[in-house]
Amino acid sequence: MTDLTQLERDLLARVEAAGDEAALEAVRVAALGKKGSVSDLLKTLGGMTPEERKERGPLINGLRDAVQGAIAARKDVLASAALEARLLAERLDVTLPVPEAPEVRGRIHPISQVVEEITAIFADMGFSVADGPDIETDYLNFTALNFPEGHPAREMHDTFFLAPDEKGERKVLRTHTSPVQIRTMTSKAPPIRIIIPGRTYRHDSDQTHTPMFHQVEGLVIDTQANIAHMKWVLEEFCKAFFEVDQVKMRFRPSFFPFTEPSAEVDIQCSRKGGEIRFGEGEDWLEILGCGMVHPNVLRNCGLDPDKVQGFAWGMGIDRIAMLKYGMPDLRPFFEADVRWLNHYGFRPLDIPSLVSGLTS
Ligand code: DAH
Repeated sequence: MTDLTQLERDLLARVEAAGDEAALEAVRVAALGKKGSVSDLLKTLGGMTPEERKERGPLINGLRDAVQGAIAARKDVLASAALEARLLAERLDVTLPVPEAPEVRGRIHPISQVVEEITAIFADMGFSVADGPDIETDYLNFTALNFPEGHPAREMHDTFFLAPDEKGERKVLRTHTSPVQIRTMTSKAPPIRIIIPGRTYRHDSDQTHTPMFHQVEGLVIDTQANIAHMKWVLEEFCKAFFEVDQVKMRFRPSFFPFTEPSAEVDIQCSRKGGEIRFGEGEDWLEILGCGMVHPNVLRNCGLDPDKVQGFAWGMGIDRIAMLKYGMPDLRPFFEADVRWLNHYGFRPLDIPSLVSGLTS
């Protein structure tokens, strides 16, 4: 009897140990195949006496049934494990990233982004945006802004002149955004509160100067706008733009033909470790020119300096963009290198606003 129990135990263990369907089939053949161990036992039944068969028959048949049952159960287990493995291996991951849509993949140039930031800050203070052409008349670029004919201040600007037209008038590539002050004051009655972001041009090219660069001009004209207002506006702007709670500013007397008095403005910063930080430190960084609009400029626009007054400022955009975003060189701004743009550019849907934050 023990031989059958032993065989059963042995066969069931082998069934259990079969790691795949092929191994299981080998166990089946060894037990139940033509020359299998269980089949051999079954064959012995024929040669037994009826008494022997009566006793051994159920035992051997029981052994066969047990082995068959175990094989069938093991087969089920192996089949579902195989199916599971296949499902895992052949899984189609529908969450694989699809190619980014153009409006997600594209990048906004840092200058465009900074113009948006500046616009958001001044819009919050009630300013609107004005613009004018890049090719400007000599009158609007200089004369109306109180640069007398032949005045040396015209030379300061390294102007690009265009060929004279039939009337002998020589247009210029505007050297600053200030001519749009005149365009605005001659087309719109005060109160005026505008900013003018735009391209400007000077014959100058080195590591920190490009022949085309960007400025943002500001102009406020009403009956009482004064220097204190100007200081407040510029301070609020710097705090918002550089995203700091405090800035220290220094107003140095200066000269511009179109403002009187005029000042150049520095903001305090630290340059420790080659990194510029605002709102702290011992260093000063010049960021803009400003002043009270000169009475001659108001007169040139048909305004009465005894009735209205105001202030204006002009600031280079490229440099404050470089400072804010840690870009070491100005020239790549204008090289249209898509690798640079991918690195320094901004996501198109990150639109700066004072509510959601200028920089995300
Ligand atoms: N237009 C000047 C420049 O290009 C900058 C400037 C200075 C603009 C003072 C202003 C101002 O409006 O008031 O250098």
